[in-house]
Amino acid sequence: MSDKILVVYVTRYGSTREVAERVAETLRENGLQVDVRPAKQVRALEGYRAVVLGAPLYIGRWLKDAQRFLSRFQADLAQRPVAVFSLGPTRLEEMATPDVRAQLDQELSKYPWLKPVAAELFGGKYDPATLRFPDNLLGALPASPLHGAPASDARDWDAIRVWANDVAIKLR
Ligand SMILES: Cc1cc2nc3c(=O)[nH]c(=O)nc-3n(C[C@H](O)[C@H](O)[C@H](O)COP(=O)(O)O)c2cc1C
Repeated sequence: MSDKILVVYVTRYGSTREVAERVAETLRENGLQVDVRPAKQVRALEGYRAVVLGAPLYIGRWLKDAQRFLSRFQADLAQRPVAVFSLGPTRLEEMATPDVRAQLDQELSKYPWLKPVAAELFGGKYDPATLRFPDNLLGALPASPLHGAPASDARDWDAIRVWANDVAIKLR
């Protein structure tokens, strides 16, 4: 098996890709060889000795491509160290609420065979002006938590770097 690490991500509006790229950069600074790919483009995991998966939360769940990736590569992932990060809350104050972390834990619990060496939730990015159908409808619904929410970027780049440094140590 080669010594490479695969950072694989799922994204709808690009914020998770940017975090995946930053995680990869930090892993490289730690001397690791890293490829970054969208989940849909991954054909095989043979060339990789470990995987970092990044996926955003949408309405309490990971996007379908993350679920598909985990199901498709279950056998390979079960034999490799895997670290997971998720993007979610778009306002920093939401990061402190326990139900937000519960959404990530809930997703992880669907894959009991997956024993991540690290699993972390980071703040996400939200811009109502860029939302496409049907996401834009959610913002328009008065009952939605996103209703009237302003654009925000709660990605904490220092926390992301600290986490990726820790993952690098675990994967070394
Ligand atoms: C329609 C919609 C639903 C969302 N639902 C959740 C949610 O249930 N929980 C959460 O923590 N974040 C939620 N978010 C925030 C996203 O996870 C966040 O914006 C993330 O950065 C998006 O990642 P992406 O740009 O890679 O697609 C939602 C965002 C949108 C637009």
